[in-house]
Amino acid sequence: MKDKICIVTGGSAGIGKATVAGLAQRRATVVIACRDVDKGNAAKDEIAAKASSKDLHVMQLDLASLASVRAFAAAFAAKFTRLDVLVENAGVMTRKRQLTVDGLEMNFGVNHVGHFLLTERLLPLLKTSAPSRIVVVSSNMHPSGKIDFDDLAMEKSWSGSYPRSKLANMLFVRALAKRLEGTKVVVNGLHPGVISTELARDFPAPVRLLAKWFLKSPEQGARTSIYLATAAQAAEISGRYFADAKEKKPGAAALDDALAERLWTETEHLVARAAAPAPAAAATNA
Ligand SMILES: NC(=O)c1ccc[n+]([C@@H]2O[C@H](COP(=O)([O-])OP(=O)(O)OC[C@H]3O[C@@H](n4cnc5c(N)ncnc54)[C@H](OP(=O)(O)O)[C@@H]3O)[C@@H](O)[C@H]2O)c1
Repeated sequence: MKDKICIVTGGSAGIGKATVAGLAQRRATVVIACRDVDKGNAAKDEIAAKASSKDLHVMQLDLASLASVRAFAAAFAAKFTRLDVLVENAGVMTRKRQLTVDGLEMNFGVNHVGHFLLTERLLPLLKTSAPSRIVVVSSNMHPSGKIDFDDLAMEKSWSGSYPRSKLANMLFVRALAKRLEGTKVVVNGLHPGVISTELARDFPAPVRLLAKWFLKSPEQGARTSIYLATAAQAAEISGRYFADAKEKKPGAAALDDALAERLWTETEHLVARAAAPAPAAAATNA
């Protein structure tokens, strides 16, 4: 991976941090895209002390703010002239309903919409750097996700928000792979395993403590991301779902092209709406 430039979102903790370490061990240049720059720098120092590549960078990215996503993409393009691998790893699993600064339900907003916009902004660079790869960290919980387009903010029913966001990840992979046919940019989704990380930080301590007994390490969790980002065997595969570094059949809903296209269009609208000035502000400016 020498001379390859990679971004890992959520590279400051858990599976993302282990993914950064694995890529750095393979001599890649890696950008740790994280919301907390101090935490990112601590991860960078820890990884650089052991890795073959010391070419690690920390850049601020808050996926709960679409303005931050745009600012990150602009700052990245100003600093780097190519992008070989984009690992969309960052994720949240909130227990209570929360909103992003753009008014999106938090799990959907961070896990899906933020990454959707990030991809859109970085795609020109991925295309000029091709062959290149996008790796989307979904979950084996995606088959239980359901998307109600009449209640994307989940005002009526707050349940299944996290699986919904992970189904959205897989539908995004499917719709994007179609759009990328013939470009030599590939995109695949994955389940990392059930891993001991900070993901369940919102849940009661006894639940987290109990779960620790059954969980694998972040290094084991990073294995499939690193496989899809680096393996020669995965270079030309696109639009698929992996676990344990092997292709797996995703849930039925993740194969629904009509659903994938509807989600794509609705997400474009959400992103456009968040960028548009509020009506009152527009009227004042007129
Ligand atoms: N752990 C599992 O068993 C498991 C199973 C299936 C799928 N996954 C998926 O694996 C991915 C990694 O999760 P993890 O288990 O490693 O959890 P984690 O330890 O909580 O790490 C999540 C990472 O995402 C970052 N993040 C959260 N909100 C963000 C935001 N608004 N903007 C930018 N970055 C943000 C976190 O930043 P901070 O450090 O600042 O919080 C952290 O670096 C997620 O997509 C998750 O859904 C995990």
